[in-house]
Amino acid sequence: MRHHRTVIQNGNAVPVPLPGRYPGPYFDIERFDSMKVNHHALELEQNYLFSEVAKRIRAFQAENPDKELLKLSIGDVTRPLAKIITDEIKAAAEDMAHAETFHGYGAEQGEAFLRKAIAAYYHKRGIAVDAEDVFISDGAKCDLGNLCDLFDADNTVLLPNPVYPVYYDTSIMSGRRVIFGDGTKENGFLPMPDPAVHADIIYLCSPNNPTGAVYTKEQLAEWVAYARENGALILFDAAYEAYIRDPALPHSIFEIEGAETCAIEINSLSKTAGFTGVRCGWTVVPRTLQFEASLHDMWFRRMATKYNGTSYIIQRAAAKVFTDEGIAAVHRDIDYYMENARIIKAALTKAGIHSVGGENAPYVWMECPDHADSWAFFDKLLYTYGIAGTPGVGFGTAGQGWLRFSSFGTRETVEKAAAYLAAL
Ligand code: MLT
Repeated sequence: MRHHRTVIQNGNAVPVPLPGRYPGPYFDIERFDSMKVNHHALELEQNYLFSEVAKRIRAFQAENPDKELLKLSIGDVTRPLAKIITDEIKAAAEDMAHAETFHGYGAEQGEAFLRKAIAAYYHKRGIAVDAEDVFISDGAKCDLGNLCDLFDADNTVLLPNPVYPVYYDTSIMSGRRVIFGDGTKENGFLPMPDPAVHADIIYLCSPNNPTGAVYTKEQLAEWVAYARENGALILFDAAYEAYIRDPALPHSIFEIEGAETCAIEINSLSKTAGFTGVRCGWTVVPRTLQFEASLHDMWFRRMATKYNGTSYIIQRAAAKVFTDEGIAAVHRDIDYYMENARIIKAALTKAGIHSVGGENAPYVWMECPDHADSWAFFDKLLYTYGIAGTPGVGFGTAGQGWLRFSSFGTRETVEKAAAYLAAL
C-alpha cells in the first residue's frame, strides 16, 4: 500500500505536507511514496530459534493434552530468587516510598555502588576491571544486539558455528558480512582462529552456549593474539562463567594479557542469580580499547541516548548478589543446576551417547543417535517421551546432528527425562 499525499494542480502532481507535521515547504515526494524497511532484517528466518521451539512444543501439547512435558529446551531458570535478593528488592522498594530515600532517573552508566561491586567481583579473581569501565544494562542479549550500533556495516564478523542465535541475527540485521569458524566433534566445539582469514569483529562465548565447551587460557590467548594482529575487536560473552568448576579455566577474557586493548566483555545475572525475569546485566568497555574512536565513549553516548537505565530497585538487588552472603546463596542454585547437568550427562553416557559440556557449563550438547537430523530427533524425543531439547542445527549448520539440553529444569523433570535418555 502506498501512502503518498499527492494533489493534482494544473495537471501536475504536487506533494503536500501531512497535516499536523512539519509546516513549511513541501516534502520530497519520494519520502511519501514508500517507507523503506531494513531489508537485512528480512534475511532472517521467520522465527527466532526459541520462538520456533516454543511453537512446536505448544503444538505437541495441544495434540497431547495428557502427556507430561519434560522441558529441557530454553535456558530459563526454575529456582526462585534467593531470600537475600527478594529482601533487598523489598527494602529498595520501601526506599522509593519516602521523599528522603526516593530515586528518580539513575546514573547513565548505572549506579556507582553496583559498578564498584562488579569491579570488586573481578578483583577477587585477580582480574583488573575498573568500575569506570562497567556499564549496567537489562541483560546480555540486549547489549550484544545494541553494541552493533557502534560498528560500521562494512565489517567482517567472525562467529563460531554453532552459535547463540543473537550474534548471528543481530549481525545480519545490521548488514554485516558474516563468516564462521566451525566447531566439530574433533575440536571439541572450540574453533580456533585461522591466521589466513581476516575478521574485524569476533564473538566468543565461554562457557559456550549452546555446546557447554569452555576455552582454556591458552586458547583464549590465541584469540587475543589474533584479534590484535588483525586490528579486530572481541565481543566476549561470559554469561555462564559462574558455572565453571575447573579452577584452571578462565572466567573472563580480561584474564588474558592484552585483552584490555581488543575486547569487550558482556555478562548478566540471568543465569548467575536467576534474574531471567528480573533483568540485570553489564558490559565492560575498557577505556584502553584502541580503535579509531573510543568505544567506551561511544557506548556511553549510545546508552545515554537510547537506554533509560536498569531500575534502581533491581540494581540494589544486583549489588546484593555480589556480597559474600549473596554469592553463597546463588551458588546453592548453581550447584543444583550443575547436579542436573551431571544427571543428564550420566544418562547419556549410560546410553553410549557422546556429549560435550555439562561439566563447567549448564548445557549438555549430545550427538543424535544414528546420525539423526537435529529436528527429526527433537520431534522423536518430544513425541515419544515428552522431552523437549533444542535442535543443534537451530544454532547453525555445524550443529546438524546434535541436540542441546538445558540443565535449568527442576530436579523432578531432569530425573524423569534422564530415565528415558539412559534407555535410548
Ligand atoms: C538459551 O536457551 O540459549 C538462553 O536462555 C537464551 C538467552 O539467554 O537469551
